[in-house]
Amino acid sequence: MTAARTAVVCGLGTHLPSGVVTNEDLAKELDTSDEWIRSRTGIGQRHIAEDGTATSDLAVEAGRRALKSASTDTVDAVIVATSTPDHICPATAPVVAARLGLGTVPAFDVAAMCTGFVYGLAVAAGFIAAGTARSVLVVGAETYSTILDPEDRSTRAIFGDGAGAVVVRAGEPDEPGALGPVILGSDGTGSELIRIPSGGSRDPFRAAHAERADPYFRMSGARVFRNAVERMAEASLEAVTRAGWAPEDVDVFVSHQANVRIMNAVADQMRLPRSRFPVHLDRVGNTAAASIPLALADAVTAGGLRPGHRTALAAFGGGLTWGAATLTWPDVTPV
Ligand code: UT7
Repeated sequence: MTAARTAVVCGLGTHLPSGVVTNEDLAKELDTSDEWIRSRTGIGQRHIAEDGTATSDLAVEAGRRALKSASTDTVDAVIVATSTPDHICPATAPVVAARLGLGTVPAFDVAAMCTGFVYGLAVAAGFIAAGTARSVLVVGAETYSTILDPEDRSTRAIFGDGAGAVVVRAGEPDEPGALGPVILGSDGTGSELIRIPSGGSRDPFRAAHAERADPYFRMSGARVFRNAVERMAEASLEAVTRAGWAPEDVDVFVSHQANVRIMNAVADQMRLPRSRFPVHLDRVGNTAAASIPLALADAVTAGGLRPGHRTALAAFGGGLTWGAATLTWPDVTPV
């Protein structure tokens, strides 16, 4: 008998910082309004971590809850998907693993921006398929509030902080929770559309040039919007087809929560009712790599995502990067 080597989702945990910034709060500081933000994005508020809170602090909490949800206190590897690591180096995952008491397991970060969670799932599935690990904790965690320009209304309106995590274990392909095909892609010709211009090796921090450095997150929103719709719809169709499903077989489509207009456009391109796309961003904004696990937990809690539902996941982010995956939702209670 061959060993089971399909990644099966068996735990889900989330953590949001308690601080909430509403659109009205932002409008007191910036030239924006609740009406603009809601009508252009669907976002009503976002959670923002307190000063001094790092991404690992949120990741540890979500990770702890995912382990609890999976009724386990061990895993063979930890992957943290983030574009707001505690430090440029070292990676955030080893600290998360240590603080969770997971010992000396392999732990590393995945940097695929908002697609990071889907990339992380794919890597975890690869570890399990190769026999490198029997179980993996995959965390998406972000503190975008630490990289946004306080004066940039277009990014501050969108991004929020948070973390979500899943545990995947080795299992059989026909079990509920078994990850189906994962489709990933990238297009580095669009790398300038989303980036932090300074502070990396291209424009390192130098005290002498500090005044011309730009340490903040920048995004060409409208161009990203068009790419996001096209790439997420394409990747999702491919993932669904490879799973042997027709698009209309998808009961629940858990999309990266960047902008409700992007989600609606993907639904329209796939000829799926918009109601199959659960919306979470109205309460949390765009939480980048944390967005999909947070949206999964919210959909389960709200009763819209139930065991047996054919589920598609899709994300798009800086890089540019994108990804999509399928699974049949398992009987997992988020913590
Ligand atoms: O998660 C990773 C990937 N990211 C995304 O998927 C985000 C994709 N992009 C978007 O969601 C949208 O492009 C945004 C929400 C970021 C912007 O919406 P848009 O409809 O594409 O607006 P725009 O960038 O084309 O800007 C239109 C106008 C501009 O003013 P002018 O130059 O026409 O005078 C902006 O300055 O809207 C202005 N604007 C705002 N006005 C009020 C931008 N942000 C705001 C704001 N409040 N918060």
